[in-house]
Amino acid sequence: MAAKKYLIVGNWKMHRTARETAEALSHLAQRWSGARGVTLAICPPFTALTAAAKILSNGPIRLGAQNLHWEEEGAFTGEISSAMLRDLSVEYVIVGHSERRALFHEDGPTVAKKFAAAVTHGLKPILCVGETEAERESDEQKEIVKRQIREALRAAEAPENFTIAYEPIWAIGTGRTATAEDVQLMHGHIRNVLRECGVAADRIPILYGGSVKAANCTQLLNRPDVDGALVGGASLRNDEFLAIAGLAAELAKREEGVEQIES
Ligand code: 13P
Repeated sequence: MAAKKYLIVGNWKMHRTARETAEALSHLAQRWSGARGVTLAICPPFTALTAAAKILSNGPIRLGAQNLHWEEEGAFTGEISSAMLRDLSVEYVIVGHSERRALFHEDGPTVAKKFAAAVTHGLKPILCVGETEAERESDEQKEIVKRQIREALRAAEAPENFTIAYEPIWAIGTGRTATAEDVQLMHGHIRNVLRECGVAADRIPILYGGSVKAANCTQLLNRPDVDGALVGGASLRNDEFLAIAGLAAELAKREEGVEQIES
C-alpha cells in the first residue's frame, strides 16, 4: 500500500480583507516551505484571492475558493464562475459547505451543478457532506451522507480529481469533535459509497472537518481513512494551522518509514 498523504485545507469563511490576507499569508508562506506527504491549501474570501494568488505563486501552499456558480457567464448578479477562479490561479473550490446549504438554501441539485462545473473546468472540488445533530441522534448519518454524495456526483462525468470533506454540522465552530472512531467509521462508509458510484475511491482524499485543532488532529489523522482536515477557526491563526500541518508531516514521515520497511 502506498504511504498516506495528507491534505490540510484552511477555510477562512468570511474573514480578512485583501490586505489582512496578504499579511497573514506572507507570514504563513515564510514559515512553510513544504513537507513530504503534506499539501496545504488556503481558501480565502473571493475579494482576497488576487492578493493571495500573488503571494502563493511559485510556493508550496495551494489556493482554493469557497464557492462558485455553475454557469460560465451570464446575468447572475453577485456570482463568480469557474473561469473567473481559474484566471486567479485557484486550484481547489469548496462545494456544498453546510453553511451554504443551511443559510443560503443550496439544495442537492444546486450542489450537483456546482460540483460538475468545477470538474468540467479543471478545478478540484472539495465536496462537503455531514449530518445535523438530530440526524445523528436518530442514527441517520450514514444515509444522509450517502444521499449527499450520490446527489452531488450525479451530474459529473467520471470525476477523478476531487476531495470529500466530512463535516458533521454539530461539530462546526462548536469546539465539539466527533470521536476518531466515529470519524473512521464514517470515512470508511464514504469510501464504500464512492466505490458504489464507480469512483476509484482509494485515490479520493477524505478530509474531516469540525473544530479541528492541533490538540485533536493527530488522533483524527491517524485513522486509516482520514486523509486530512478542513480547518475553519484554527486556520485563522498561523501558529495553530502550522502546528496542524507539522503534525500531519510527522505522521506522513512515519507512514513513509513503515512503507519502506514493508516493501
Ligand atoms: P471549525 O474548524 O471552525 O469548526 O469549522 C469547520 C468548517 O466548517 C470548515 O469548513
